[in-house]
Amino acid sequence: MTRPPTVDIREVGPRDGLQVEAPVDPGDRVRLVEALVEAGVSHVEACSFVSPTAVPAMAGAGEVMAKLSRVSGVTYTALVPNRKGAEMALEAGVDELTVTVSASPAYSEKNVRMSIDESVAAVEEVCVLAGTVPVDAVISCAFGSPYEGDIAPERAAALGDRLVDAGAVSLTYADTTGMATPRRVAELLDETGTEVGLHLHDTRGTALVNAYSALERGVRRFDTSVGGLGGSPFAAGAAGNLATEDFVALLDDLGVVSGIDLERLLAASALAAELVGHPLPSRVAVAGPRDRLAPE
Ligand code: COA
Ligand code: ZN
Repeated sequence: MTRPPTVDIREVGPRDGLQVEAPVDPGDRVRLVEALVEAGVSHVEACSFVSPTAVPAMAGAGEVMAKLSRVSGVTYTALVPNRKGAEMALEAGVDELTVTVSASPAYSEKNVRMSIDESVAAVEEVCVLAGTVPVDAVISCAFGSPYEGDIAPERAAALGDRLVDAGAVSLTYADTTGMATPRRVAELLDETGTEVGLHLHDTRGTALVNAYSALERGVRRFDTSVGGLGGSPFAAGAAGNLATEDFVALLDDLGVVSGIDLERLLAASALAAELVGHPLPSRVAVAGPRDRLAPE
């Protein structure tokens, strides 16, 4: 068993989570990020610099970054689809950029209105512009899409290689529409090795078991979303991300250090539910931690 002693959780709720919701104003998005940091989250995808016509809920990203108080040891990431987004994000002082390139040609067109080749070229431009700011390339639909069905692990891994050649310092494989299973995670990791991040969605109820299977093989980087918020407005049938609190509860039980305090995280999750105005899918948010006793 190669389970790591610590993991890096990149919290994507303020971006992937909120992008599918009715717009939440920048001040409240900042409150959510700060509640997450208060809970011990040290890596947050805080916003995306994208066309406000394409994703109205992410408008005001510059304002979010300007209002966020900087905390030592906390990394703020922003997703950018192109050069313009990268310029705006760097100007706003982000610590890391994520760029997304799809392994699915159809999703690529829907999401960023670019072919895969055009999108790889955009990553190359973004990496040059980023200079010393690290760029993590997120390969969306890495396990498949509703438009093409399964995508072979060799194909997803080959796209990853191209993105490293384009200048990305790290890779994250995303299961945008919940096509992964533990078997398919293992097949992908056989191609890529375990020095990659995973971004898992729970569309078919497999996010936690997929994360667990990857953890047991030694993967140390995971994207999760508070409350299990999330999805893509550009993929049919996309659902929420792996819930941060569900994963943290599992890690606590295994003795794997995430640095996140579960009770405080649940307070951030309650704030997220209040801001979006509906209950969130996380199981632990509903049931509470295992060691919390029912009132007499
Ligand atoms: N941020 C803000 N505005 C941007 C932008 C960015 N990163 N990139 C382009 N724009 C603006 C352009 O300036 C232009 O504005 P104008 O009409 O006022 O002149 C407008 O958007 C259209 O620009 P164009 O280059 O023709 O883009 P497009 O319409 O082909 O859309 C993207 C391409 C990539 C900008 C758009 O599809 C997008 O933002 N996608 C992101 C989707 C996303 O966030 N998905 C979630 C990831 S899982
Ligand atoms: Zn996602």
